Amino acid sequence: MNTLRVPVDPWNPDPAVLREAAAVLRRGGLVAFPTETVYGLGANALDADAVRGIYRAKGRPSDNPLILHLACREEAERLARPTPRARSLMSAFWPGPLTLVLPARPVVPAETRGGLDTAALRMPDHPVAAALIEAAGFPLAAPSANLSGRPSPTDADSVWEDLGGRADMILDAGPVSVGIESTVLDMTAEPPLLLRPGGLSREVLEDFLGVGLGCPEVPSARSPGTRYRHYAPFVPVWIWEGGPLPEGADPGRCGFMGLTSPSAPFARSLRFDSPENYARGLFAGFRAMESAGVLGIVVQWPPASGVGLGLRDRIRRAARTGAEDDSAASASLGL
Ligand code: TXA
Ligand code: MG
Repeated sequence: MNTLRVPVDPWNPDPAVLREAAAVLRRGGLVAFPTETVYGLGANALDADAVRGIYRAKGRPSDNPLILHLACREEAERLARPTPRARSLMSAFWPGPLTLVLPARPVVPAETRGGLDTAALRMPDHPVAAALIEAAGFPLAAPSANLSGRPSPTDADSVWEDLGGRADMILDAGPVSVGIESTVLDMTAEPPLLLRPGGLSREVLEDFLGVGLGCPEVPSARSPGTRYRHYAPFVPVWIWEGGPLPEGADPGRCGFMGLTSPSAPFARSLRFDSPENYARGLFAGFRAMESAGVLGIVVQWPPASGVGLGLRDRIRRAARTGAEDDSAASASLGL
């Protein structure tokens, strides 16, 4: 497949380009587009064939459901049955990095829902995403635009690396602003369950709702996507919590990423001056380090507050190697 890569102004996308992308989507094709969190690989969420194309292109297991991306809040009522509490979250945090899991209406195909009876909805906070959904006239099912298991793409080069030849079109609007995916909240549970920590912090949500969020003991049970090894570069990732370096990590041949460097001189080093910038640079950093030829990456464990909880989740999954114990994993996140 020939993948068309088109530059777009993030603030003022060219209507002719959007019309072309919308035409591709109407034909059942795949268009990668920027959101504020990461780039998504979009298809018509209401067209089962188009959605099957997403799973094929990514090599994604078909029981891992997709998020439906909307251009307006009202659309949520047509696709799902929001509770009053879900509606108040939409008013407060949409557009933004918050995905709500709600009882689905039959209009959402089983392919999009991964066979579940719920649908995950979000309204992205990016002018290109909003304009594309608007131009298409239907919600876009869009997972992160990477090959399944690889680091999520935070710029168009990363999308190209994974999906060049597998998507019809890539809209290149430069780097994203958040850098890790949206927070996924299951609103069918009481209290709501934090299925995936992400761009909107747990503290902000709990303050707003006035309740503590539940955390799945075994994440795999409710959110199939959290079951798989994920976000991983091709080289090993070690977590560093301060003190001696992880065993096997030879600084002379490894890279380091984090907020404060260990004293050893690493072959490559990426230091971020805040957890927000760490989140923005994590996935691109993984990809840059592996192409620089390091033998492994030592990654600093960030504080759990704010975006740090989502960062911890991504880092822990990237560092996984084999058989895993999910309840131990969620305990280690500080959940
Ligand atoms: O920021 C984001 O959320 C990005 C951008 C592109 O919007 N998208 C994204 O999609 O991260 P994806 O497919 O990589 O991750 C979706 C997550 C998965 O963990 C999936 O299991 C969960 O959301 N999910 C989707 N629908 C669900 C449902 N009905 N019930 C529970 N979890 C669901
Ligand atoms: Mg993903």
